[in-house]
Amino acid sequence: MSQNSTSIDPATGAEIRSHEWDGIRELDNPLPRWWFWIFLICVVWSIGYWIAMPSWPLATTYLKGTLGWSQRANVAADIAALQESRRPIEQELMAANLDDIENDPDLFSFALASGRSAFKDNCAPCHGAGAQGAIGYPNLNDDDWLWGGTLADIEQTIQHGIRNASMDSRFSEMPAYLTLGTLDRAQVSDVTEYVLSLSGRAEDAQAAERGSSTFAEQCVTCHGEDGKGMRDQGAPNLTDSIWLYGGDRDSIFETIAKARNSSMPIWGERLPAPTVRALAVYVHSLGGGEKSTMNMEGAQ
Ligand code: HEC
Ligand code: HEC
Repeated sequence: MSQNSTSIDPATGAEIRSHEWDGIRELDNPLPRWWFWIFLICVVWSIGYWIAMPSWPLATTYLKGTLGWSQRANVAADIAALQESRRPIEQELMAANLDDIENDPDLFSFALASGRSAFKDNCAPCHGAGAQGAIGYPNLNDDDWLWGGTLADIEQTIQHGIRNASMDSRFSEMPAYLTLGTLDRAQVSDVTEYVLSLSGRAEDAQAAERGSSTFAEQCVTCHGEDGKGMRDQGAPNLTDSIWLYGGDRDSIFETIAKARNSSMPIWGERLPAPTVRALAVYVHSLGGGEKSTMNMEGAQ
């Protein structure tokens, strides 16, 4: 490192500083004036900004600034404005006759959009993002309904839930036949064989035959004489290939032995009425939505 050798750089005319690192030396150029002033203005601006806007965290609060600006309040105001703008169409939705909603394009598309987004927020954790369901959580895309598939049925199911504290909730309770001792293991096994026979899968005809009388005694009140289920009990059709808890022998045995009796929340307590209705329209649109007249014909 060479010492005190002040010299002038021939290319720029600037003074070369005395220090040197590994042969690299530095020119003594002042900052450009424009740069310096902008820097100073920024410093002054930041002090003003600091006083006017929220700036500094304190133990439990923060310096709010003289302008009182708040991102949270702005978002709340935006949401309130959005809700206000939706109010008329929500009122229309609540006033409409259920069966007319699908014939009113504006109302229908509003209900679908708002139902779809409420579904993602509230229902997807159990029923899946595409409403495809999972073990114990019914698929809402098909036209197989436990409790009924008309708009009114679906709205009722969502509003009051299933097997919970609401007086109006859907309710039924399949007994846990083995746990309660109503049937012994062999009887449960036989009736399992009979249930398999309903979808043509029995392997032991004699066991299925023995099971059929147990079925007639214990099960027809809910599942019907033909095993096709009953909507006022939420009892599934046992003759098709759609299974809530699995259609293999072990799963069916488990269901009969211990019962399942799962529940769904009372959405009417958690969501505003127009949202529940929008959800019903959305769910109804997913699968083979039933018309209310069909239900009247099928009602028992
Ligand atoms: C905590 C889990 C859970 C959540 C969240 C949930 N469900 Fe359910 N849902 C269930 C279960 C379990 C059943 C079936 C209960 C039974 O009858 O055995 C069900 C059944 C239903 C049915 C009846 C289907 C039929 O075949 O009759 C509808 C309709 C439904 N849910 C809609 C919704 C909607 C809409 C939401 C969102 C607002 C929702 N569910 C959120 C668990 C849930
Ligand atoms: C009080 C009404 C009731 C009675 C009695 C009843 N069930 Fe059920 N069963 C239901 C309901 C409701 C469900 C579905 C909902 C749940 O448990 O979550 C069901 C579900 C089932 C399932 C599961 C179906 C699937 O899709 O996974 C099988 C299998 C079944 N029952 C068989 C029987 C048999 C066999 C008997 C008689 C030994 C019987 N049930 C008696 C109401 C009943």
